[in-house]
Amino acid sequence: MENSSAKKEKKKMSRRKKVVIAVIAVIVAAAIVGGGIFYCTFFPNPLAKKIPVSDISAGTMSVTGESNVLVAYFSLTNNRVYTADEMDAVSSASLKIEDGTGYGHAELLALAAQEVTGGDIFPIKVDDLYPETYGGAFDRHHRETGTSIRPELTEHLESIENYDTVIIIYPNWLSSMPVPVLSFLEEYDFSGKTIIPIATSQALGLGSGPEQIAAACPDAVVADGLSARSEDGVKEFLTKAGLAK
Ligand SMILES: Cc1cc2nc3c(=O)[nH]c(=O)nc-3n(C[C@H](O)[C@H](O)[C@H](O)COP(=O)(O)O)c2cc1C
Repeated sequence: MENSSAKKEKKKMSRRKKVVIAVIAVIVAAAIVGGGIFYCTFFPNPLAKKIPVSDISAGTMSVTGESNVLVAYFSLTNNRVYTADEMDAVSSASLKIEDGTGYGHAELLALAAQEVTGGDIFPIKVDDLYPETYGGAFDRHHRETGTSIRPELTEHLESIENYDTVIIIYPNWLSSMPVPVLSFLEEYDFSGKTIIPIATSQALGLGSGPEQIAAACPDAVVADGLSARSEDGVKEFLTKAGLAK
């Protein structure tokens, strides 16, 4: 008899323990959720960087014809649809804010290349803009790459005769170049010119860009390229290549 009442008492105690633990868990969970809501309401994400779409670069072009170096680049930022009034530079796949202006990563590298070489700079831009979401751009690239599709470009150079060196700066998209870069390469005659590929990427570097350039411009010399991590890296690379003005 004593044994069974002791057992009952034990069971009661363990049930009470479970109830107490459950109550504590609910209180802790409520505190975490409530605290999170409070924090997000009164202390917005310090990493979030919003920029009005009107402050996003439409592309940089400066063609003086005075240099024998051309820097041509493609950035999603200059080539996508914008439907919102402002963009979040942290969540965007192609946007970096510098001095209050939004640029694509390839555009910033191109500006660095232009600064160090004193070359002309040309933005590769499409008529038919890429969708605004990463997934939309991804799907369109998946449809275009490896096919004969060549998106129409909005800007054209009168001639590339004056240039001996052409620096092509592109983002790595699924280990390849965005197809409008091929539209650009196939529009002109690069015979005898030296082409230097520079890629920006999350991780995968140049991908098959150098091979794609060689296939599109069989009579050009495709020099060793750079998987760029920063504007300073581009400047250093081009200076070592003897291209600093
Ligand atoms: C459609 C799409 C596909 C991408 N695929 C890759 C990839 O395969 N590997 C990689 O390292 N980065 C990939 N990225 C990331 C871009 O290469 C990277 O964000 C680049 O810096 C963007 O340059 P931009 O700002 O000039 O457009 C991809 C980006 C997009 C939009």
